[in-house]
Amino acid sequence: MRKAIYPGSFDPITNGHIDIISRASKLFDEVIVLLAVNPNKECRFSVDERIEMLKKATSQFDNVKVDFYPGLTIQYARNVGAVALIRGLRVVSDFEYEWTLSAANEFIDKGIEMVFLMAHHEMTFISSSAIDELYHSGVDISPLVPKVVIEMYKKKSK
Ligand code: COA
Repeated sequence: MRKAIYPGSFDPITNGHIDIISRASKLFDEVIVLLAVNPNKECRFSVDERIEMLKKATSQFDNVKVDFYPGLTIQYARNVGAVALIRGLRVVSDFEYEWTLSAANEFIDKGIEMVFLMAHHEMTFISSSAIDELYHSGVDISPLVPKVVIEMYKKKSK
């Protein structure tokens, strides 16, 4: 079984992420969407809230699972026998960041391939922090995120 990991902080998950997950699920037997820790980010949603959103937002994919790991993503990938780490690329600045990240991952384990999927053009402006800003400025974000994200925002503001 060819297993791949799609890591991120998903604060919150967006339709840009769903697009990558959907395409990865067709390339691999199993995709694990991994809630990982980006030490440079302070997240709005808790780990439990993000896991709940990820599970609900990916429930339509039979071969997609959700997990959380507080350590290094590449170590998790090795532990579960994954063959690849999936990352989405939107703009050139993503590439610079990914270049460094993939070099660090390669230093730890050369056996796990980095697989980059190009985001669809209409998705390139979406990011989790843009979603957060738009929502809190009163913009309708429903075309940009799974339904559960809006439900979670509403629950949080009660
Ligand atoms: N569609 C929409 N948005 C996308 C996207 C896509 N295809 N790809 C990326 N993004 C957005 C993300 O939502 C995120 O938005 P934000 O900065 O507003 O929150 C931004 O682009 C950056 O995404 P990403 O590079 O995936 O960062 P991240 O914080 O989501 O994930 C980790 C980074 C968690 C994967 C990484 O820090 C990690 O693996 N941490 C674990 C520890 C580790 O292994 N570190 C590496 C050791 S050197």
